[in-house]
Amino acid sequence: MPRAAPPAGLPAREAAVRLLVAVLSEGHSLDAAVAKEFQQSALEPRDRALARLIAATVLRRLGELEFVLNSYLERPLPKRQGALWQILLSGAAQLLFLETPPHAAVGLAVEQARRDRHAAHYDKLVNALLRRLAREGAAALQASDAVALNIPAWLLQRWGEAYGAEAARHIAAASLAEAPLDISVKEAPEAWAARLGGAVLPTGSVRLAAGGRIEDLPGYAEGVWWVQDAAAALPVRLLGPVAGKSVVDLCAAPGGKTAQLAAAGADVTAVDLSGARLKRLAANLERLHLAAQLVEADAATWSPGRTFDAVLLDAPCTATGTIRRHPDILRLKRPDDAAALADIQSRLLDNAAGLVAPGGTLLYCTCSLEPEEGARQIERFLAHDRRFARSPIAAGVCGIAAEWLTPHGELRTLPCHLPGERPELSGMDGFYAARLTRIG
Ligand SMILES: C[S@@+](CC[C@H](N)C(=O)[O-])C[C@H]1O[C@@H](n2cnc3c(N)ncnc32)[C@H](O)[C@@H]1O
Repeated sequence: MPRAAPPAGLPAREAAVRLLVAVLSEGHSLDAAVAKEFQQSALEPRDRALARLIAATVLRRLGELEFVLNSYLERPLPKRQGALWQILLSGAAQLLFLETPPHAAVGLAVEQARRDRHAAHYDKLVNALLRRLAREGAAALQASDAVALNIPAWLLQRWGEAYGAEAARHIAAASLAEAPLDISVKEAPEAWAARLGGAVLPTGSVRLAAGGRIEDLPGYAEGVWWVQDAAAALPVRLLGPVAGKSVVDLCAAPGGKTAQLAAAGADVTAVDLSGARLKRLAANLERLHLAAQLVEADAATWSPGRTFDAVLLDAPCTATGTIRRHPDILRLKRPDDAAALADIQSRLLDNAAGLVAPGGTLLYCTCSLEPEEGARQIERFLAHDRRFARSPIAAGVCGIAAEWLTPHGELRTLPCHLPGERPELSGMDGFYAARLTRIG
């Protein structure tokens, strides 16, 4: 007999659970899981957004959700349980963090369990646990420590060593908040901020409350602006006026910085190792009516036989400064990842240096909070390449606050910087940037 049509809301919940399995059990990034899940999906854009939101909320709040659910379990769940645990987590996230009405969150989770061959025997358990959680869960969480539960201890310890224990807790708490929507606008940011109901930040980005489909906002289809965190927009601004200059953007995809450079009138060459990501960059530039030369190459060995007025290296990194937008980082990164990436970054930096014309600028940046991917990388580089010296960044320039700078004049933004009156409009990604000049 054909199965009855799924109840409204079920396909989005099922997609959320598949996303969680892909990240938590198979180790894929949330972005990669989303791209695969929705490649050939009939799900409406609204349901896709809901599935991603549920999965992202579980990944962000995993420690708290597991703490409450485990406190209700009298014995561990059996090994063969299908996606039972992910179904429970996703139901719990909807109840505790997404304000889903209990009858919908619980009813759909029970239905999901019934449709999963291995979880089907546990439908009554799902019903009982989630009903109890709907009644008592919020109070249990109020009495618990969200930072300690959700941020892996090794990461908190690292941040404590780098920034001090108090700052580490601020960084961690800010990393658990959802990020606002920051955009870079080609021209007339004030007018676009007014039209979109946002505000222009001191750094020049426009900030809006997140929510809704980005593609539906005014100006998106016409290519007036692109999504880019306020901190991510700073490295290109630090190059100063680039109109008419030759600039190479190494590790360029998906192209937020390439777009900034092209919009500012630079002659841009964008290099990336990944052909698939370069295709996305090309599509982004096309929407924005901007142009750049695209090169698919390994930036650690790329040798074009010429030099550039400026070289921007936005190196691949652990991305621990972007946890607000990519909460899967909390679940996927491991303590020795920063050291492994630091090796790659140093090879990229050494090759990038050879592409800078005499008197030109080398701008190195990463969206990591880890010192070995930031300040230590530059110390190492300057110690062995005497052709370069720091060109310190001054407070006030580009709206940069003094507390975002290191004593050497490098940019060191943290997720807890740029506090606003409303939490959903606060914070920025944790970015490190150093500006160097070729003096020799
Ligand atoms: C942090 S993202 C860059 C973000 C980009 N600069 C922007 O502003 O939109 C890192 C990029 O580095 C690329 N990448 C990683 N290793 C590379 C290498 N050895 N050579 C060139 N690109 C590389 C990745 O494909 C990825 O697109």
